Amino acid sequence: KSVRASAPATVANVSCGFDIFGFAVASPADEVVVTLTDKPGVVIREIVGDDGRLPLDASRNTSGVAVIEFLKAIKSEQGAEITLYKHLALGSGMGSSAASSVAALVAINHLHGEPLSRKELLPFAMESERIACGSAHADNVAPSLLGGFVLIRGYDPLDVTSIPTPAGLFCTLVHPHLELKTEDSRRVLKATIPIKDAITQWGNIAGLVVGLMKPDFGLIGRSLKDVVAEPIRSVLIPGFDRIKEEAVKAGALGCGISGSGPTIFALSTDAATAQRVGEAMQAQFTDLKLKSDVFVSEI
Ligand code: HSE
Repeated sequence: KSVRASAPATVANVSCGFDIFGFAVASPADEVVVTLTDKPGVVIREIVGDDGRLPLDASRNTSGVAVIEFLKAIKSEQGAEITLYKHLALGSGMGSSAASSVAALVAINHLHGEPLSRKELLPFAMESERIACGSAHADNVAPSLLGGFVLIRGYDPLDVTSIPTPAGLFCTLVHPHLELKTEDSRRVLKATIPIKDAITQWGNIAGLVVGLMKPDFGLIGRSLKDVVAEPIRSVLIPGFDRIKEEAVKAGALGCGISGSGPTIFALSTDAATAQRVGEAMQAQFTDLKLKSDVFVSEI
């Protein structure tokens, strides 16, 4: 028995919500084909699209780890074979590792008759994140699994809830062909936050939630600010400040680093603006002789 499943890219942090906010986009998405085997053990049969860079050892591959943890949890005596079709670039800040593990979990859960809900699959996907970058954050895996905009209110115990988004909110992703390792981008962050910055961040986090729920697009735009991670991480993204300016000039509500970068996201209130914003952002990378891809989706 085989099942094909896919899981989408995600924007983690959404500027102010480091490790607590994330949303899913329509594309790109990773795909897997998972086959149940009578022999126990998980095997990665093939990975297509990674130029041979991801580990074929299931215990070191995010899709493999997720399936191993799932099979352990349901006490299955069967095994699985995974073929992974990698459509998300590695180290892109679009939740590449998360999309692979979520797609694999959706497939293996389906093959077993869906014994677990999507929320119950979360811990297995978080374990994969730990393997991928040393930290079991949920702000990519949760939206990739659940769809939409997700808040991780707490990690211990895990408390995840969806935030409704207004119709007509569009996300532009511009992915420059550079790689940043999440593990490295986490290591450069400071361990403490001055109270003044914490107050700014709290205001923006609350503002973004209220803006999404009211909805109030002006408030969403004003809240897309990050005084914690962005000032440190943005130096790793060529032209970041300029690109942000150009995105807003082209009509975006706001703009920031997607996850740990280097992809930059922007939010807009219609598809045509989101497209224009993407072109304006891409033009900046092109000026810097950097190739980039643009993805636009309604969120
Ligand atoms: N919240 C995580 C980080 C997301 O910014 O490190 C990584 O994609």
